[in-house]
Amino acid sequence: MYLGLDLGTSGLRALLVDGGGAPVASLSESYATTHPHPGWSEQDPAVWVAAVDRVLSRMAAERPGDMAQIKGIGVSGHMHGAVCLDDVGTVVRPCILWNDTRSHAEAARLDDAPQVRALSGNIVFPGFTAPKLVWMAAHEPETFARVATVVLPAGYMNFHLTGETFADMSDSAGTSWLDTGARDWSGPLLSAGGMRREQMPRLIEGSEVGGTLRRNLAERWGMRGDVAVVGGAGDNAASACGVGAMREGEGFVSLGTSGVLLTGRDGYAPKPESAVHTFCHAVPGQWYQMGVILAATDSLNWLSRVTGAPPAELSKELGETISGPARLRFLPYLSGERTPHNDARIRGGFLNIEQATDRRAMTQAVMEGVAFALGDCARALGQTGADLHSMLAIGGGAASHFWVETIATVLGVPLDLPEAGDFGAALGAARLAMVGCGAGTVEEIMVRPGVRATVEPVIALAGTYAEAFAAYRATYPAIRDLS
Ligand code: XUL
Repeated sequence: MYLGLDLGTSGLRALLVDGGGAPVASLSESYATTHPHPGWSEQDPAVWVAAVDRVLSRMAAERPGDMAQIKGIGVSGHMHGAVCLDDVGTVVRPCILWNDTRSHAEAARLDDAPQVRALSGNIVFPGFTAPKLVWMAAHEPETFARVATVVLPAGYMNFHLTGETFADMSDSAGTSWLDTGARDWSGPLLSAGGMRREQMPRLIEGSEVGGTLRRNLAERWGMRGDVAVVGGAGDNAASACGVGAMREGEGFVSLGTSGVLLTGRDGYAPKPESAVHTFCHAVPGQWYQMGVILAATDSLNWLSRVTGAPPAELSKELGETISGPARLRFLPYLSGERTPHNDARIRGGFLNIEQATDRRAMTQAVMEGVAFALGDCARALGQTGADLHSMLAIGGGAASHFWVETIATVLGVPLDLPEAGDFGAALGAARLAMVGCGAGTVEEIMVRPGVRATVEPVIALAGTYAEAFAAYRATYPAIRDLS
């Protein structure tokens, strides 16, 4: 038995898998994020500790036999958050999360500094870790002076579980302190961010064992013998492990709150100016690249709020298959945009509203706008040499055949729909524990889920969608300076 823990933004999920990697049980607990000021987003790591205890105590009560057989644990975490520890391992302030934008000015300054993009392989986005510490140094100097070690959320959970500070490469690549090509902390990046190497945790691969579960926790949760804790991963790398997106061209499009177009890479091919994220994968010798859009199903949720119709009802009005793009156009920049614009100020909009425009037309335009934004991500990934040949469609939005067919047609690639089952970040984390404990190789364990259907691009309509995409792409530069 192996355990995957997914420390998410809205809650913690524990997934138990058997010796062959098949899910056996899953339990979760939700928790809140606090917003002490506009743009701020924080969580007290004590909340994660309480959540993991509640979840695993429940699991121990429900499945004592299985818990006694756990050999390894892997943790996936929301990325980029700064958990600052003092010299005795006490958390000095609440964790500043990935979606906290207070340090946007510090991020822009770091992003302009010489060598930063070249070494980290990425733009310093406002949510990344390094600018948060620059902000702390300026605004909370007394707290900053106490910082002995900075870990990310998954790293903090690993510290709680084992008493040791270690960090995996995939999560560490989102700090702007890592030389992503060399898979090592970078002296120049650390000094650009006012940090020192001794404040960084020990780096290991996500599938490497970092420590052993503390005795008192093992006893509390009914585990026997030594339980290994591996490096784990940032949530996107863990999700990729969960669907077997490891090697060149193996990827997925995820229609969640935000949208992600991700592909595994066999080599390191950064292109920061395209706003593509280039991060280490959670296993040795691999990287992954992704385009991120900030509002995917969030765009449909917004339309649902303003129309008062649930998202499923809006989707249903469109039917199953596409018949050509709408003239009405939607720009999904409800929270700004990452790829390809790296523009926190831009906001969304509708274009070409006419007398006949109704709710159905607006839903179609929203889904198409998200598809075009993902098309922008695919173009950006294409500039790095990435080849998107084996793609899954996952996430809540993938329940709409209309939406997936629109995306397949805009991207010009077939999209596979996985069979029902478990393939999220918690499964990826459990799989990393399996590799770390020697249950099999990466190739044997990080397999793709079964495919229940493949949604092909509609070739006959490819030309009209390409024209609409070109018009969509012309809109951003036209409106960028207007708001
Ligand atoms: C990735 C990112 C998010 C967070 C939270 O760059 O910011 O995916 O990891 O899920």
